[in-house]
Amino acid sequence: MQRIAIFASGNGTNAQRIMEHFQDHPKIRVTLLLSNKADAFVLERARNMHVPSVVFTRNDLYDSQHLLDILSVQCIDFLVLAGFLWLIPGYLLQAYPSRIINIHPALLPKYGGKGMYGMRVHESVIQAGERESGISIHYVNEQYDEGQIIFQAKCPVEPGDTAESLANKVHELEYKFYPEIIEKVMGS
Ligand code: GAR
Repeated sequence: MQRIAIFASGNGTNAQRIMEHFQDHPKIRVTLLLSNKADAFVLERARNMHVPSVVFTRNDLYDSQHLLDILSVQCIDFLVLAGFLWLIPGYLLQAYPSRIINIHPALLPKYGGKGMYGMRVHESVIQAGERESGISIHYVNEQYDEGQIIFQAKCPVEPGDTAESLANKVHELEYKFYPEIIEKVMGS
């Protein structure tokens, strides 16, 4: 059995889909959820799915290798970022080469980088008058949103679309594709 740890900071609708997708999978399971926010709703989702969770601080992530100890003890094979907003430190990248992936709610390399997350991304896309947006699933490296792109899917931005309506379209793409791309990348 290959074991996934999900990193998430917020609501966790993607984390939910991923946990559900793998809950009866013969070879892959989500066995840990990590969050930097003690009040993130994703923690309740994990509880409901009987997935253990860990809340960690900035110090845990950047000033020690505490997280690596947790991941090792739990025999985690693969890290999935799903609405996680902090940069992944070098020691984790080295411990999980080509085994950390992220989803971004736009067509990278546009509308990525530090501070570009969630609704801010959609507001920028609408403001720029783009005719299409979408999702990018990519390997994680030491820069925000710059790792090698694995998969993209597009949706139209129509006249009258708001950041909210665009977010809904993009979320639908995320739910449809992220679990299956994770499965492909993990080789099952
Ligand atoms: C998702 O749309 C994800 O693509 C985005 O945050 C949202 C989290 O929603 N991630 C980023 O913007 C990363 N730069 P969720 O918590 O409901 O899954």
